Amino acid sequence: MARILVTSALPYINGIKHLGNLVGSQLPADVYSRYMRARGHEVMFICATDEHGTPAELAAAKAGEPVAEYCARMWQVQKDLADGFRLSFDHFGRSSSARNHRLTQHFAGLLADAGLVEEVSERQVYSIDDGRFLPDRYIEGTCPNCGYERARGDQCENCTKQLDPTDLINPRSAISGSTNLEVRETKHLYLRQSLLRDRLREWINSKTDWPVLTTSIAHKWLDDGEGLQDRGITRDLDWGIPVRRGEAPWPGMEGKVFYVWFDAPIEYIAATAEWADATGQDDAAWQRWWREDLGARDVRYVEFMGKDNVPFHTLSFPATILGANHDGAEPWKLVDYIKSFNYLNYDGGKFSTSQGRGIFMDQALEILPSDYWRWWLLSNVPESSDANFTWDSFQGGVNKDLADVLGNFVSRVTKFARSRFGDSIPDGAYGPDEQAVIADLGRRLAAYEAAMEAIELRKAAQELRGLWVVGNEYLQGAAPWAAFKTDPARAAAITRFAFNLIRLYAVLSRPFLPDASAKMLEALSQPDDAWPDDIGEALATLPGGHPFSVPDVLFQKIEDARRSELEARFAGV
Ligand code: 2FM
Ligand code: ZN
Repeated sequence: MARILVTSALPYINGIKHLGNLVGSQLPADVYSRYMRARGHEVMFICATDEHGTPAELAAAKAGEPVAEYCARMWQVQKDLADGFRLSFDHFGRSSSARNHRLTQHFAGLLADAGLVEEVSERQVYSIDDGRFLPDRYIEGTCPNCGYERARGDQCENCTKQLDPTDLINPRSAISGSTNLEVRETKHLYLRQSLLRDRLREWINSKTDWPVLTTSIAHKWLDDGEGLQDRGITRDLDWGIPVRRGEAPWPGMEGKVFYVWFDAPIEYIAATAEWADATGQDDAAWQRWWREDLGARDVRYVEFMGKDNVPFHTLSFPATILGANHDGAEPWKLVDYIKSFNYLNYDGGKFSTSQGRGIFMDQALEILPSDYWRWWLLSNVPESSDANFTWDSFQGGVNKDLADVLGNFVSRVTKFARSRFGDSIPDGAYGPDEQAVIADLGRRLAAYEAAMEAIELRKAAQELRGLWVVGNEYLQGAAPWAAFKTDPARAAAITRFAFNLIRLYAVLSRPFLPDASAKMLEALSQPDDAWPDDIGEALATLPGGHPFSVPDVLFQKIEDARRSELEARFAGV
């Protein structure tokens, strides 16, 4: 049994996430965590809301709420939606937690002790009318690179160039629209991550098994230098984690907070501490996941994220972790594997939070239960390239895979058995046909497991579907309804085998389809649900005489009229 730490990129607090966000980190992290738990490993699956920075403040202002109240409310909204999608976090924390305040300040202190923090006096845009500095997204203007007129102070959304607020042409305040701006001197802390360039390069080079998407982005940033310039880790904002050097004040930094991208990844650790607090455990309980000297040496740490987050997780956060262990100060856990994803598009264009384009998590659950979405999203997860959501493809996935293959199998077997054998499974010994299916399933199970271990989720979904298809084809060929007339004993054996297939499918499908799996197991009176070691043994689990019930339809098909209606409803936004 291994110990596996899984983190999903933290969703920003500023609103409900769309399906593109969901499939880019939280959902794949969930499937992987569920799978690893099913295989008997000890898993710690962590996520949280990312609550600081200008997006949070701007969203709160737009909602007309104090930012702390806005964040508390939106945390609950996001938590409920995560539950709705059956995301099996061990803890869903908040980056604004007291734990994260302390830990972020602690890391800053360690980095300063290591000589990795520098005070820099820099020129920042100050809004005279707003009476404040305008960092990051608080300022908008024309991109000097591409001429886009709504570029933000941290980045141009149009050409993706990273910007400084002072780079913008015709700048204006995003708060008031005021152009009454001036440049003022202000002092900030910089993390001297350029000093860690060689160690980071060596570390990245040692990760030969990482997905190319991850390492290519890391190398691009390492090699063109843009990603490893020393970077400001403080801001002139009210909302955030106050700058302190560990527990001590930081002279000259009064009234400033840490930059959101400094404290957000530290929340992975802090959320694990929040989990220990919430479950009444001591510090040792979370430290054994994160501190190499306190038990984390044998932990495998896997991170999930969209490709835009890769630079922060391959360079910036590791710089914090490596820097904290300068001269052997505190050995925190570095990530072992980073699974990153391309983008999911919506009907040929981008999902967009700001423009409300695409399907958002709350809307999705109003339309259909989570398993339908989980299946389509995971079987189309944008692994090797961007993927595209269309209602047509969604209808196809639901109808052809879920309803026609898995759902139909369960329904045919249970209904047939009920009509011929009553409410317990008939007895019967397996013959050569069953042995052939067992051999086929054994090979397919190995392929499914290999894909899950490698976190190749699209492939894993295909393999899982292939396992279901084998059962359908077997049932069609063995035709117990026909055998029943001539050889009832044979029909009984086929039926018993088919029930055992339902149990097997429930266990194997659980990471992808937790609700359907639970229904299938319930219909079989909650049998042994252990992951199979040996397919032959697994398919002998349910004996004759075991009770069953006929479950409700597992998956409803999406009719063409319904698909057109949904297409139209979401086309306009
Ligand atoms: O891009 C995003 O959505 C960020 N909120 C991800 C943060 S991940 C982690 F570092 F906290
Ligand atoms: Zn631009």
